[in-house]
Amino acid sequence: MTSQQTFFTDRYPELGKAPVPVEPYISAEYFEREKAEIFKKTWLQVGRVEEIPNPGDYFVKELAVCDTEVIVVRNKQGQIRAMHNVCAHRMNQVVYEKCGNTRKFFCKFHGWAYDLDGRLTGVPEEGCFFDMQREDYGLSQVSCDVWQGFIFVNMQPQPAQTLAEFMKPVYGDVEGYPFDKLTCAFQWTSVVNCNWKLALDAFQEAYHVAYVHGNSIADAIDKSDGGSMRPLDVVCGDVHRRLSLAGNQKSVYGNPKAVTSGGAAAAEALAESAASRPIAAAALRAGMGSAKHEFPLEALPKGVNWTHSKNWLFDINVIFPDFYVSLRPNYYQAYTFRPIAHNKMLFEGRVYYPEMTTAGGRFFLEYMKVALRDVLLEDMSTLERTQAAAETGAKTHMILQDSEILVRHGAHVVDRLIGAAQ
Ligand code: FES
Ligand SMILES: [Fe+2]
Repeated sequence: MTSQQTFFTDRYPELGKAPVPVEPYISAEYFEREKAEIFKKTWLQVGRVEEIPNPGDYFVKELAVCDTEVIVVRNKQGQIRAMHNVCAHRMNQVVYEKCGNTRKFFCKFHGWAYDLDGRLTGVPEEGCFFDMQREDYGLSQVSCDVWQGFIFVNMQPQPAQTLAEFMKPVYGDVEGYPFDKLTCAFQWTSVVNCNWKLALDAFQEAYHVAYVHGNSIADAIDKSDGGSMRPLDVVCGDVHRRLSLAGNQKSVYGNPKAVTSGGAAAAEALAESAASRPIAAAALRAGMGSAKHEFPLEALPKGVNWTHSKNWLFDINVIFPDFYVSLRPNYYQAYTFRPIAHNKMLFEGRVYYPEMTTAGGRFFLEYMKVALRDVLLEDMSTLERTQAAAETGAKTHMILQDSEILVRHGAHVVDRLIGAAQ
């Protein structure tokens, strides 16, 4: 890096360039403030509309960070509702199953019944209660809304911002991405013994790719920039953030459009991979032309590959506080980094692809599932070690380079919101 090089960090003087404190990653007291001032006040992603397509479909989401568990259900009118999983009688959890379909929710303790909107509709021995009005004893509602098919909840009865207002500043121009055409999902879930920010940080920079992923996907690095995977561009909003990355178009992983574009894109992707990654190359050849939909780059909304790089690999989008969505031309990853305690978090990772119409296409998906699993395991391999090392207290600060600006921004936003609350 020369002294003439411009830094992304220079665009955001409020972030500073100083080393970043370790305390927020290891302090139980800091975590209590994050719970109160951030997680109980903001929109949290809990799933997709496709998980509950029919009236009566529901799932239950444990949200330790909000000290609750919510039922997310599609009502008779087709609207999605959320409510606390707490019976109005003597507080039993009403639903025990993780998901299902029902006409009513029946509490298994004394048999109270609630409809799909949470209204109390049945009470055994109702005449023995004292002046009880059913309308006062429904399930407690949780604010709920949908953005681009993603369901969000907010613990505030009257959120300070609507979900649309919350998303618009950085993600308004991502609306229209073909989420609805990417319906084939695979997923992994894991409880990891580390701080939620520490886990998220490992996914919001590409500085680590050449090392952590040296044996898996490092051939996807675009060497034309010196091989360090510098971002093409960075956007740090008030709370959200994103960056865009280029990839080596001569590799299968680095040229994601190849499988749906075919033609010249596929020939380019196979240029080096055919010899160096024969299984990846075979999977690409098998999968080409199999996707149910087309994904022309020109059809993407303007907030995706917003630098119009012809070597575009993907965009990392971090939807505050803990939702990561990486967008590629024809598939996306949706990861949540949901806190449980200051040193424990729940990772839920899903990857969404288009439906494939041939056996070859489904082989390609199986190949990608295994490849992405290995990449994910590599990313996970550092987390508990880093947490344990952070907790030694040997270092009070960590130092960040320009390409790690999203890590800096993430720490800055959390600290600002907690500081503002004090
Ligand atoms: S606690 Fe639910 S019916 Fe009694
Ligand atoms: Fe990684």
